[in-house]
This record gives sequence, structure tokens and C-alpha cells, in this order.
Amino acid sequence: MKKIAVVGTGYVGLVTGVALSDIGHNVTCIDIDHEKVKKMRDGESPIYEPGLDEVMTRNINAGRLHFTTSHEEGFVGKDVAYIAVGTPEREDGTADLRFIETVAKDIAQNITEDITVVTKSTVPVGTNDYIIGLIRDNLAKDVTVNIVSNPEFLREGSAVYDAFNGDRIVVGADSAEAGDLIEEINKPFGIPVYRTDVRSAEMIKYASNAFLATKIGFINEISNLCSRLDANVEDVAFGMGLDGRIGNQFLKAGIGYGGSCFPKDTSALVKIAESVDYDFELVKSVVSSNKRQQLVMVDKAKDVIGGLKGKTIALLGLAFKPNTDDMRESPAIAISRELLLAGADVKAYDPIAAVNAAHFMPDGVEYVGSKEEALSQADAVIIVTDWAEFKDMELSVFETEMAAPVVFDGRNCYGLEEVSRTNIEYYSIGRRP
Ligand code: UGA
Repeated sequence: MKKIAVVGTGYVGLVTGVALSDIGHNVTCIDIDHEKVKKMRDGESPIYEPGLDEVMTRNINAGRLHFTTSHEEGFVGKDVAYIAVGTPEREDGTADLRFIETVAKDIAQNITEDITVVTKSTVPVGTNDYIIGLIRDNLAKDVTVNIVSNPEFLREGSAVYDAFNGDRIVVGADSAEAGDLIEEINKPFGIPVYRTDVRSAEMIKYASNAFLATKIGFINEISNLCSRLDANVEDVAFGMGLDGRIGNQFLKAGIGYGGSCFPKDTSALVKIAESVDYDFELVKSVVSSNKRQQLVMVDKAKDVIGGLKGKTIALLGLAFKPNTDDMRESPAIAISRELLLAGADVKAYDPIAAVNAAHFMPDGVEYVGSKEEALSQADAVIIVTDWAEFKDMELSVFETEMAAPVVFDGRNCYGLEEVSRTNIEYYSIGRRP
């Protein structure tokens, strides 16, 4: 059992802290937000993440999981400090390291014993060298500090599951001892550990996210060709995925990826490349391809229903993917903006994300409390997020609620056979109308 501090209680930090406590470590999560810390002490997760409250409560009750706003209290006597604060995207696409810098200085000022600092946050290659330099330059006491890059690969919405069932744990350490320590801490997870150097670990994170984004971008472009050539993208993806070298995951065509990671990390990788005079053309085109993809259903709607001016368009789903209330970079934002610009009225429904959505969406969108309410009076509907509530619903709902149902399904929620038995005018991604 080790004594661990985790700074930052966003998705990455909170799930990391909770999971580490669940395998027996004594964990203190530090966050500057008093309200948030109060909530978490009561076992209430500040984010919508299935299963998290339960594991949190279990470990708080067992006395292994603590929350504090005090850096002094948080770092004192710890074996390891995990940094899991945000690295938001700056206007120019580079990663903003402000929060990381503050934490590095705080660690330096507050630690009283030798410590290993572990970076969970996604940081540009070379940042850990910078962080350790910053800590050593600001140390208040004469102690030894080591650094480990330990990138996180969890997915929002299945973060708790992923923490206990990941494919790999990457440990990029600046010394064998620090690497051994982090490997030992993670041992109870039973997940394979891959040891490498600090910079390679940092790069693994960006390369993995950019590769996954490329895979999605690729199948989305293929879907656009399928639409034009009367082929079926789902059959194409299935046939491709049978090749073990390609793999059958992350080949679901749709209206583009969103979220807090792929858009930010692809842009950052392009900038990282630029910083060493390298033009990363492939990832640049993935970024622009995704922007175009987010609007394919709006473009289709313009053609099919004869312009959007004065039309009412229902949006089903707003979150960037199901099982989360996260609206960051959701295709719903670009879609709404374009619809409003073209003169349409937008009625939106999301089972969870509607409250959060208002902070991200353009003004002028009307939020309603049910899918039926969104559909009634709508000239057409765009399905943005493949929530189970939409996937599993009877298709007759479209027919009963809409005078003349026109459905633009951005997530291929329904089988073509099933749809053909209805009176719905149906358009989906990379499949025959
Ligand atoms: C992603 C990665 O999957 C995680 O491994 C990584 O840790 C995380 O970013 C991160 O860097 O923190 P996440 O953004 O939570 O996780 O969501 P994903 O489930 O990967 O989905 C991302 C987007 O891609 C969603 O908008 C989803 O709808 C879209 N997507 C995904 C597709 O359009 N097609 C697919 O086949 C898969």
C-alpha cells in the first residue's frame, strides 16, 4: 500500500484516484474547488460517469480515499503525486500548460520527503522534462524527485470499467527505481505494463489518439464515397475489419468525432510537429475532414427538404457520445450553428446533457424535455448522439409524432430493413436512402 496524492479531479484524476484507492492504496485527491471537494467527500461524483459514485463511496467508507483543497495537507508524507490537471487547447491549437506549471511549483513548495511525480495529463513531448526541472528549481526542502509519464487511455462513459480493464499501462520513467515503483503500484490491476522512456510515453498518448481519430476519419470519408457509389459502409467496415491487421473497432462511420480528447490532441500533435519544423499533413487533414463530416447531415437536409429557412429541425442527442453529459466539441454545436445560420428553428433533446449543453451551444436553440416534444411540429430530425433511448425506441414514434417523418440519422441507429417497413423518409451515413 502506498500513500498517493492526485492533483486535479476531472475525469482522469478522479477516476485514477478512485481506482488506485480501490486496489488498496491510500489516496488523497486535491482540487482547488471547495464546492467540488465538499461534494466528493460525501461520495458524490461531480461528473456523470457510470459506476463512479459507488466505487467512491466504498473507498471513502473504507478510509482509503480522501479529498482536500489544501496542497500542504495533500502532499505531505506521500510516496507519489499524480498530476491530472487539464491541458486545454489554446486558440492556436497548442496545449495550455498553465495548470501543470502551477501544480509543479506547488509540489516543489510542499513536499517534505522524496517523491515520484507521475504525469497523467496529456502533455506535449518534452513537457515532463520541463516539469521536473521546474520542480527541482523551486524545491523548498532538499529532497529527491523523480518523474514518470503515465498517460491515461480511459474513455468517458466507461472510465471506471477502463480503469480496471485497460489494454495496457504505459510507464515512461526517468529512472529504473521510479519505473519499478509505479509498476508495483499498478500491479493489482492485472493490466500489462509497458515500460519505456519519458518522451516515448508522452508520444504514445498523442500517437494513439491521433491514430484512432484517423481511423474514424478514414471510415467517415469512405462512407461519403459509399453514399455516392451506392455501397453500404457498414458492410465495407465489416469486411475491412475481418483483416486482423486492420481490426474491427473504431470503424463506425458517423457525423464525426468530438469530445475533450481527439479534437484537442490532434490539433496539439500538429503543433508539436510544427515546433520541430515538421508538416504533419495526414493529421492536419484528419482535423479538417472531421469538421466537414460534422455537417454532412445538415447539407443533406438542405438538399432533401428544399432549404432550411423557416423549417423546424429536431435534434435528438447533444452529447458528443452516449452515456456522458460532456458537450465539448460535440458535433451538435457545429450542426446547430449551421442550422440557425440557414434560418431554421432548432428544437433539441438530450436525456442527460441538455443542462450542460446550453453553455456550449449557440443562442437560439430551444431545449425540450422529451424526444416526442422535439419531434412534434418538426419538419425533419437529425440524430446526433446514439443514446440507447433513441436506438431502442419504436420507429413508430417518428410516425406518430411527425406529420411527415424525415429522419437524418447521423449515427446509423436503425437497420435499413426495419426502416423500409415504415413510412419514414430515412437518410443515414454511407447507406442507401
Ligand atoms: C478517447 C479515447 O478513446 C481514449 O482511449 C482516450 O483515453 C481519451 O480519448 C482521452 O484522450 O482522454 P473519449 O474521447 O472518451 O476517449 O471517447 P471515444 O469513445 O473514443 O469516442 C470519441 C469520439 O469518436 C466520439 O465522438 C465517438 O462518437 C466517435 N467515434 C468513436 C466514432 O465516430 N466512430 C467510432 O468507431 C468510434
